[in-house]
Amino acid sequence: MGKKIMMIPGPTPVEQSILDALSKETVSHLDPQLVGTLKETLKDLKTIVMTEKGQPFTIPGTGTLAMETALVNSLKKGDRLLVVSHGYFGDRFVEIAQSYGFEVEVLASEWGKIVEVEKIAQKLKEKKFSAITLTHVDTSTGVCAPLKEVSEVVKEFPETLFIVDGVCATGGIEERMDDWGIDILFAGNQKAFGVPPGLANLIFSEKALERRNSLGKISAYYMDINRWLSIMRDPASGYFATHAVNMVNALHQGLKIILKEGLEERFKRHRRFALAFQTGLEELGFGILPSKEHRANTVSTVVYPFGIEDLSFRERLFQNGVLVSAGKGVLAGKIFRLGHMGNITENEVVATLSIIERTLSEFNYNFKLGSGIGAAEEILFKK
Ligand SMILES: Cc1ncc(COP(=O)(O)O)c(C=O)c1O
Repeated sequence: MGKKIMMIPGPTPVEQSILDALSKETVSHLDPQLVGTLKETLKDLKTIVMTEKGQPFTIPGTGTLAMETALVNSLKKGDRLLVVSHGYFGDRFVEIAQSYGFEVEVLASEWGKIVEVEKIAQKLKEKKFSAITLTHVDTSTGVCAPLKEVSEVVKEFPETLFIVDGVCATGGIEERMDDWGIDILFAGNQKAFGVPPGLANLIFSEKALERRNSLGKISAYYMDINRWLSIMRDPASGYFATHAVNMVNALHQGLKIILKEGLEERFKRHRRFALAFQTGLEELGFGILPSKEHRANTVSTVVYPFGIEDLSFRERLFQNGVLVSAGKGVLAGKIFRLGHMGNITENEVVATLSIIERTLSEFNYNFKLGSGIGAAEEILFKK
């Protein structure tokens, strides 16, 4: 049976040094070691999203908590929110916003496509919005939003906070928080950071902190960033809620690995692995849902060729050694989702493609054995 290669879009495989950090002795959240580690972790978060003045927060929870935290600290009941949705996770913002009584308008694309930047500009001109959300990579569709282009548009509307969901991107795809005028950017642990799930990591711009203050009392307690602020500025300053101390150690190590690799190198590696997978899979007759310019470097949404049935393919693939995820919503049964982010190496790319080829051959699918890996190797190994 053996260990499976986990190629789902999160959680991603975790390096042993991160697991070692996670299993360090549990100390008090006020222990000088933990205080130092948390300070460094917050500083490293800022480096990864390229901000000087942004205020980082790391809060026990998951990506969804970060989404909700971003909204409740930016809007009050009746305020208008524009959601740009490229799939399931974009749509989740709508549900969160509705449960707080925010006025939501949605610009949604057909799954696999993007909302054109001009449409966003048009919408922002039509009405005043307190905030806009953009999901950098929607994990359900594998669509990577044109973040930089959208940021150029949003900059023209300084009263609109720019909230970016980086859960499936941060640490794997470039995000220049200051240069691109992002006001709130957040990520979980378990995707391109390669850390076990358990923390919501958010960075607020000065403007976003001012917005929070302008709201006065908000409909949240644990998620009120003003309650966390003094702890994040000085972790030795006291108690708000007991921090997930072991998770902080794990995230600290995860971020060190990212910075040791180097941001530019890491972004390039993600690009190379995505291209290798996408080219190899296309060579085998699979499709990739988004058009080339909107494909993510962190996850691929892989469309089955005629004659290959989703569930039996994924089950056999798993028996052969690789775990991938099912399609979501309207894409269920039509695609599988392949994660390729975090701390994976060429070995996982090549092994995964080899096991996909083995699985296809067991279904008597007509293709040339080795053609997918060959195409991928051209990208991975050719100097
Ligand atoms: C883009 C995106 N946003 C938000 C979330 C929610 O994160 P979590 O599952 O950690 O709550 C996910 C989860 O996969 C995601 O992919």
